[in-house]
Amino acid sequence: MGDGIFVSFEGGDGAGKSTQVRALADWLAAQGRTVLLTFEPGDSALGKVLRDAVLHGEDVDPRTEALLYATDRAHHVASVVRPALARGEVVITDRYLDSSVAYQGVGRGLGADTIEQLSLWATGGLLPDLTVLLDLDPEAALARITREPDRLERGGDEFHAITRQAFLDRAAGDPQRFLVLDARLPAEDLAAAVATRVGQLLER
Ligand code: TYD
Repeated sequence: MGDGIFVSFEGGDGAGKSTQVRALADWLAAQGRTVLLTFEPGDSALGKVLRDAVLHGEDVDPRTEALLYATDRAHHVASVVRPALARGEVVITDRYLDSSVAYQGVGRGLGADTIEQLSLWATGGLLPDLTVLLDLDPEAALARITREPDRLERGGDEFHAITRQAFLDRAAGDPQRFLVLDARLPAEDLAAAVATRVGQLLER
């Protein structure tokens, strides 16, 4: 592996991940770093097919759903993420394995440990250097979603509450990797906090 840095953004729908991903990419570019922006599920040709199957298909049972996300992640890491890290780039992904642990492991009740192991197997054990969790009260999150909700977003309040807690529990279990931010803060404040933490990684 080269000197690349791997950053993931996590959080419920509507937490402002895409805004923060872009802000960090701009900040890094201004530092002269080469950045690769990516996302899960679906940032490859095969990924698009898998994304469509998992988000818009009907009657996807929980184990199938978990395997589809894991398949997408395996392919994404092998074909997009690892090559960029090997080139020394900063890879920023909108969602990664913590989403699977929260949604499939806890939300769908398949077990956090099982789903974590599945993703670690799929990726050959690749964990981010930093995971930014944009934590947002589920009601505020729903209010922010203006487009038509996808199949997971239609899961309801209880699903949102338990998956939010799952992300928070995961962050509490690995404070070295996670930066937890209150997503209701102004976007500039969030971006500054993320840049400070990434700056520390760049100096390492
Ligand atoms: P998408 O519209 O790509 O992104 P976002 O909601 O982040 O704006 O939707 C991705 C959906 O897939 C989202 O509802 C969360 C879900 N998801 C999982 O359930 N497990 C996973 O491993 C990943 C990566 C996403």
